Amino acid sequence: MKKIILTGDRPTGRLHVGHYVGSLRRRVELQNSGEYDEIYIMIADAQALTDNADNPEKVRQNIIEVALDYMSCGLDPEKTNMFIQSQIPELCELTCYYMNLVTVSRLQRNPTVKTEIKMRNFETSIPVGFFTYPISQASDITAFKATTVPAGEDQMPMVEQTKEIVHKFNSVYGETLTEPEILLPTNQACMRLPGIDGKAKMSKSLGNCIYLSDTPDDVRKKIMSMYTDPDHIQISDPGKIEGNTVFTYLDAFCRPEHFERYLPDYANLDELKAHYQRGGLGDVKVKKFLNNVLQEELEPVRARRKELEQDIPYVYEVLRKGTAAAKEKAARTLAEVKAAMKINYFDDAELIKAQSEKYKA
Ligand code: TRP
Repeated sequence: MKKIILTGDRPTGRLHVGHYVGSLRRRVELQNSGEYDEIYIMIADAQALTDNADNPEKVRQNIIEVALDYMSCGLDPEKTNMFIQSQIPELCELTCYYMNLVTVSRLQRNPTVKTEIKMRNFETSIPVGFFTYPISQASDITAFKATTVPAGEDQMPMVEQTKEIVHKFNSVYGETLTEPEILLPTNQACMRLPGIDGKAKMSKSLGNCIYLSDTPDDVRKKIMSMYTDPDHIQISDPGKIEGNTVFTYLDAFCRPEHFERYLPDYANLDELKAHYQRGGLGDVKVKKFLNNVLQEELEPVRARRKELEQDIPYVYEVLRKGTAAAKEKAARTLAEVKAAMKINYFDDAELIKAQSEKYKA
């Protein structure tokens, strides 16, 4: 069986380092591993519109931002099809048929949708399009026969629901769709990178993000303002690692070679943590180290972005080509789906023959 990747992001803002450690960095590794036959990375503008219907301009402006972030992280148009969801009407058509296979109560149980409804104060007025976006996401995944969905933990319920739709479809209409697996980050810190304020999740609305496109100075300032251990007042005080954002970021970003380069007094992160816990290690020193690590990681991304920003028509051309390739694949799957459901009347010579014979007899 072919190994196929599909994943994507809503274009509601620039991508931040939470996206990076949660999925982007992994996608680039998977792309370069050469183990995948096809890779599709989707800018989910149609999904973004399900809770931004009144603000299409925001979505429109952020498509290029996400594309720039993708390519500056190393997604390569020679190996990966980057495309725009709304330009593939086949996805809507699939959604329409999958809707018959999902109950309202099942959608109400989707934990990610539940949280999002609360966050957006949608309780009394949920847009139908928003409520049903997990079904649309099942179309995104199955249209490409994706075997692998590299994504964060919050996408688990979506992939679960996709699997249910695949099972239901295949059992009602015959083996047609491919069951996907989610590929989660291997490291706990990457799974759920907190905002710089230590709040659960990095999010634009909380204003606690470090963006991939932030200037070196912005990044440094944000790191210096990071939430640490509020009880670690004197350098000599013992400090806590749990819930200490600076250490969570180090868990997500730092590698042994960073110690050689920037903090040779310590062999690795465990030694640094032990010193902090014992007392005698100040926040500023740890923050400066994190700043060095993060700047090193982000520098090539920033440099590549600067270059790409000088040729926006090229980036749109990449998306146009990626979208054309994605559309072809989705159209093939849709044809199979319609054949399985026997709603391919004009292509069905058997049907026409059988019915003519019925009337001749
Ligand atoms: N729900 C994803 C997000 O919030 C975006 C998305 C849409 C997606 N369709 C997808 C992710 C299919 C993985 C697979 O960013």
